Amino acid sequence: MEIVHIPVLQEETIGYLAPRGRGELMVDATLGEGGHAYTFLSRFPELRIIGVDVDRDIQEIARERLKEFGDRIHFYLGWSQEFFAEFPRDIKRPDTILIDLGVSAYHYERGGRGFSFRKDEFLDMRIDRDRGPPAAELLKKLREEELADLIYRNAGERYSRRIARAIAAARVSGPITSSAVLAELVEGAVPSYYRHGPVHPATRTFQALRIAVNGELSRLPALLEGAFDVLEPGGRLGVIAFHSLEDRIVKNFFREKNKSCTCSPEEPICRCEGRRILTPLTRKPVVPTNDEIRNNSASRSAKLRVVEKILDEEGL
Ligand SMILES: C[S@@+](CC[C@H](N)C(=O)[O-])C[C@H]1O[C@@H](n2cnc3c(N)ncnc32)[C@H](O)[C@@H]1O
Repeated sequence: MEIVHIPVLQEETIGYLAPRGRGELMVDATLGEGGHAYTFLSRFPELRIIGVDVDRDIQEIARERLKEFGDRIHFYLGWSQEFFAEFPRDIKRPDTILIDLGVSAYHYERGGRGFSFRKDEFLDMRIDRDRGPPAAELLKKLREEELADLIYRNAGERYSRRIARAIAAARVSGPITSSAVLAELVEGAVPSYYRHGPVHPATRTFQALRIAVNGELSRLPALLEGAFDVLEPGGRLGVIAFHSLEDRIVKNFFREKNKSCTCSPEEPICRCEGRRILTPLTRKPVVPTNDEIRNNSASRSAKLRVVEKILDEEGL
């Protein structure tokens, strides 16, 4: 079993989410290969973790890696937002929750599902292999303008229109089903200075497709809402985001739950719906040190935000 993913912001995450009492329960809502979970379980011998991932292949790796911790680790296979929505009301609630968004290095290097523009694989890109259309289906079905919008909206690709035009022209001769073919198409569609820039010209197109295929932005509000709802009052939620759209959703979600009442003191009851049900523990997002970025370039865009829950929404 070879582990390929290096956990990001690991010490920082531990700094915020380390247990503060005995017998704590943590939910790792995006377990991946279990990098964060492994470190938490090793350092805190009384901690128990429930690890959630929707990708059954990667969960098998985590199971193998974490088996030395016996029944201190439990696994749930499925979307974390569904895990939180189904969380029983009559059992111990988690004291901490970690959400480390996106996909893992495993997906690019071992996934075999077209995540990487450096490989020649079927353009699937689903982390849940049992549900929804693969990326190749989107490339076939979406109109040129829809493709351009998707590539622009999800990844800010400045040449989205040219890329969409090249895809639309190429698919006339047959469906685009290979990651290598798509990468080549993108390279051919962008200006030469861009082709030779610091990042591969297909990076953003692949990112945009992956985000769309897995509904990464559309699923995020329900995931945050569910996690916050299940979290024990006094507990802590940490979220690591990897691009600005994702981070904005996280920031706004936390801001919404941290609104003080602005009604005048003369008002007998609050009418502004202001509520403060969390305390932000990170005023600004925590970002990797230069050393971490040097050792793991995939960490370069990571942003960690952590909050402490004050009370349940229905307790208001
Ligand atoms: C960035 S990786 C996590 C890496 C992990 N923290 C580690 O250190 O090894 C994200 C993982 O979460 C999974 N994932 C992403 N979003 C998910 C969701 N909404 N529900 C369940 N699993 C999700 C992906 O399949 C992937 O394995």
